[in-house]
Amino acid sequence: MTTWPTAELHVHVEGTLEADLLVELARRNDVRLPSYDPEVLTARYAFADLQSFLDVYYSNLSVLRTEQDFYDLASAYLRRAEQAGVRRAEIFFDPQTHLGNGVPFEAVIRGLDAAIADATRGSGLSADLILCFQRDLGADAAMQTLETALPFRDSFIGVGLDSAEVGYPPSLFTEVYARAAAEGLHRVAHAGEEGGPEYVREALDMLKVERVDHGNRALEDPALVQRLRDERIPLTVCPLSNVALRTAPSDLAQHPLTAMLAEGLLVSVNSDDPAYFGGYVDDNYRAMESALSLDASQLAMLARNSFESTFATDAAKAAWIAEVDAVLAKVSG
Ligand code: ADE
Ligand code: ZN
Repeated sequence: MTTWPTAELHVHVEGTLEADLLVELARRNDVRLPSYDPEVLTARYAFADLQSFLDVYYSNLSVLRTEQDFYDLASAYLRRAEQAGVRRAEIFFDPQTHLGNGVPFEAVIRGLDAAIADATRGSGLSADLILCFQRDLGADAAMQTLETALPFRDSFIGVGLDSAEVGYPPSLFTEVYARAAAEGLHRVAHAGEEGGPEYVREALDMLKVERVDHGNRALEDPALVQRLRDERIPLTVCPLSNVALRTAPSDLAQHPLTAMLAEGLLVSVNSDDPAYFGGYVDDNYRAMESALSLDASQLAMLARNSFESTFATDAAKAAWIAEVDAVLAKVSG
C-alpha cells in the first residue's frame, strides 16, 4: 500500500502518549499508575463513549511535568508522523489539564515548541500548534487560559475547542473566540462528534471557525451539508477514533466518510488520539482504503483535501498538492 503525503490536522499531542512513554515518564516523575506494564495499561483502552475515553486520557496526563517531558512527547509524535507521510501537522494541545496539574504554561509550550523546531529543521515536515480550550471547564476558564497563553502568541497559530461536547455548545465560547480572532489566531472547533448538527452550525455562526473537527453529525442536516459544500469548510474526520468511541458503526465500511465524499465535502483523514485508537494517520488511510475499497484517485483526493484544509501558505499548499499528483501519476503507472 502506498504511503500518501498528507497533512494531519486533527491530532491531540496528548493523545499520542504511547504506553511505553507513559511508563517512562511515570517513573521519571515518580507518578503512580495503575500498572507499570504497558500491555496491562493498553488493555484498559476499551471505551464506551467519548467520556469514558477522556477519563483515561486526562488521568494519564498527570505523568507530564516538565518541559523535557513535553519535548519528548512531541518529538515521538513528529518522528512517527514523518514515517506516516505527514508533511504538515497542525497539532492540538490541552494546556488546561497541565495547568490544573501544577505545570506552568511556559513549560508546556517551550517543550512542544522546541520539539517542533528540532524535528522540522532541515526536514520535509512543517508543524504548528493549536491551543484547545476544554469546553467542560467553561468559558471563563477558556478566557483565562487565552490570557495566560498570549505572552507566547508566536508559538501557536490558532485555538480549538475539545473535550466533552454534549451540554457545552459552541455558543458559550463566543467571546473567547472573538478575542482569539482579534489576536489574528485561526479558529477551529470539535463539533458534531457526539453533539448534533446544531453544534456545527453554532461553531460556524458564533465562533466563526474556519475548520470543523469531526463534523460527522452534520450529515443529519441537508441544508448544513449544502453550506459546508458551498463554502468549502474543511471537516477533519477521524475514522479509527469514531469506531473506538462508538460515534460510528464498528464496521468501517459504514463510516460516514463515504457519504461525505459522495456529498462533495472537503474531508480529510486524521488520527485524533493515535495512542488510544489503534493507529496513526497512515493507519487511518489504510483502514479506509481497505474498508471502502478506495482507489488511488480517491486516496489522492483525500490527501489533496488535507493540504487544502491547512493554514499554510498557498505556495506551500500548491507544492504539497503537486507532490500528491506525482505520487498518483506514479502509482497509476
Ligand atoms: N480530546 C482528545 N480527543 C478528543 C476527542 N476525540 N473529542 C473531544 N475531545 C478530545
Ligand atoms: Zn479530537
